[in-house]
This record gives sequence, C-alpha cells and structure tokens, in this order.
Amino acid sequence: MKLATLKLPAALSALQIGERPEPDVTPGRVKVRWHASSLNYHDYAVVTGALPSVDGRIPLSDGAGEVVAVGAGVREWKVGDRVISVFFPKWQDGAATLDNTLTMTGDSIDGCAVQYSVVEPQALTPMPAHLSPAEAATLPCAALTAWRALVVECGIKPGDRVLVQGSGGMSIFALQFARLAGAEVYATSSLPDKLERLRTLGAHHLVNYREDKLWGETVRRLSGGGVDHVVDVGGHSTLAQSLKAVRVGGNIVMVGVLGGLEAPLHIGRLIARQPRLRPIAVGSRAMQLDMCRGIELSGLRPVLDRTFALSRLVDAFLHQESGRHFGKIIIDLAA
Ligand SMILES: NC(=O)c1ccc[n+]([C@@H]2O[C@H](COP(=O)([O-])OP(=O)(O)OC[C@H]3O[C@@H](n4cnc5c(N)ncnc54)[C@H](OP(=O)(O)O)[C@@H]3O)[C@@H](O)[C@H]2O)c1
Repeated sequence: MKLATLKLPAALSALQIGERPEPDVTPGRVKVRWHASSLNYHDYAVVTGALPSVDGRIPLSDGAGEVVAVGAGVREWKVGDRVISVFFPKWQDGAATLDNTLTMTGDSIDGCAVQYSVVEPQALTPMPAHLSPAEAATLPCAALTAWRALVVECGIKPGDRVLVQGSGGMSIFALQFARLAGAEVYATSSLPDKLERLRTLGAHHLVNYREDKLWGETVRRLSGGGVDHVVDVGGHSTLAQSLKAVRVGGNIVMVGVLGGLEAPLHIGRLIARQPRLRPIAVGSRAMQLDMCRGIELSGLRPVLDRTFALSRLVDAFLHQESGRHFGKIIIDLAA
C-alpha cells in the first residue's frame, strides 16, 4: 500500500511517499481502506515542524473510506461500512480533558495519508450517506470545528448575525452552518473573486479585509452595533478587529492562529464589550455524530477545491501555502 511519512526535522521536503505491506486486522480493531483525505492548517503545521512530531509519522487528520475487515469482538462495525476518521479518538463525549485531547490523528498518532489503517472502533463515525468520500473527508477537523463553534458554543439560532473570516475550509463550513441555522452572515476575504464566491454560498455582507484594515468597525456599522457571533481565525491579525465587530455580550470563538500565536488585546474595549471569549480545539466524537446527522438531513455539501494524488502531497501543501484555494483541498488516496 502507498503512504506518506514525515522525516525529522520536519519540512515539506521531508515528506516521503513510500510503500509498505498492508496491516492485518487485530482483535478489537477495525481495518479501514481510506479513499480520500483533506488538508487542514493543522496538518500544514505538523508537516512543516510548527508542531512537534516523531520520525516516520503518517500525517493528515482527515480520512474517509470503508471498513474492509473487523477484528474479533468488534460489534460496532461491519465490512463495507462507509466511515470517517475522528480528530480526537479518545474524546468520545462530554468535556475536553488533558487526557482525552492528547491523542490527535495525524499528530500524536498516525493519520490518514495511507491507503489502509487498523484503528480502534471508536476512532470512526459513519459517513453521511449522500456524500462522496472526497466530500466526507473534509468533515473531521474543519467542519467539526465550525459546527462546534456555532452550534455547540454559540447555540446559533435563526436571525443571529455571524461573522466568518477568510475563505479557508473551516470558515466556509462556518458560513454554511450559519446559513443552515437561518443566520445573517458577514464574511471577509482578501480577494474580490473569493468574496463573490462567498456571496454565491449565501453570505449577505462582504468585506475585503486587505483593502479595509478597519473591517471590524465596518462590520459593526453594517450590523447596527455588532454581530452576535464571530469565528476568529487569525489571532494576532484579527482579534482586535473581531472585538470591534462583536456586539456587547456577543461571542468570539477563537479558532485560528493564521496571523500569529500572540495578540495584543485592548482590555478596556474587552471590558466594555463583555464578549464571551471561547478558544476551542475541534470537538468530540459525539459532536461529530450530531454534525453528520445535521449534514445528512440538510443535504449540505462541502465546498471542494483541487484534488491531488497522494504522490503529489507536497504540491497540495504548496497550493495550500499559496492561499489560492477556496474551500477544502482533497488528497485522493486511491490514485
Ligand atoms: N481550533 C481548532 O480546532 C481549529 C480547527 C480547524 C482550523 N483551525 C484554525 O483555523 C484557521 C483556518 O484553518 P483552515 O484549515 O480553514 O485554513 P485554510 O483552509 O488554509 O484557510 C486559510 C484562509 O484564511 C484566510 N487568511 C489567511 N491568513 C489570514 C490572516 N492573517 N487573517 C485573516 N484571514 C486569513 C485566507 O482567506 P482569503 O484567501 O479568503 O483571504 C486563507 O485562504 C487556522 O489557523 C487553523 O489552525 C483551528
């Protein structure tokens, strides 16, 4: 079978595409054939060494495929079941703890840049029936984070006003879930053609954050005093403007660090605005099950960018690095 592994010191040039024998299923475990994966900023951080890794790690948190063998004692799955991976396989339900969030697919344990894996039954959830493997491979990290941000943490409801930032994979899911919930969506991007595509996806108000450096104030003005929920992806580059965009007592869900890990915050404005600041890391398996049910019932379809064969994984990451993508970059694991 084909796979990608990371040599240390980590770098895109240290990603190796190779071959090794398929693993055999073992008691209590499930053998999965992965058909597709997708790229997240988190995967980029792993393969470029921004996050620590180990020599030989198989990267990529996201996978969609089918069960091809079931070990003795496994009752949850049968051969032929269509499945997706789980970002935190030890975080099944309830609150996040140190214990249940230390194990991360494609980070502290091997991920899905491989054609076959043998995994624990609880490291999988069913694939929404209407989705292709490529579409379903976008769900475990980006979609679940957006779902948790708006549905779990903000309790979004019809009529709420939501600000999503940029046209990356997570933000587009946030836009889609906000529209599903009947919310009014404010979206930013650095490029006019991407703003136009965000409009076709249902964004009501658009702001070019590269041309309008005070985009938070613009959103505050357009929304008549600030939005109810902000999904912040930039940290250093966005948090100050997010604080201007949110209404008094609204939510800022801190999801990303695209602009840097540290952000200066105006404490006076923070106290005046009284937002609920909620940093989150993806979500639990139970949240993923809820999200997949919501996706299946609504018929939501993820927005896909380009597809790359596993052998071109480095090119796929370079495409992500260029920022030219809109939505999710797919890795075809069958090719
Ligand atoms: N906490 C979590 O659990 C979690 C889970 C998923 C993602 N994230 C985080 O969310 C962020 C986005 O992840 P992703 O996988 O969706 O990334 P992605 O697909 O690579 O999206 C990047 C997009 O964000 C916009 N962007 C880039 N730099 C920016 C900046 N400095 N300020 C504002 N917007 C900027 C750009 O949109 P335009 O081209 O339209 O300008 C860019 O295309 C990352 O920081 C990632 O770590 C966190």
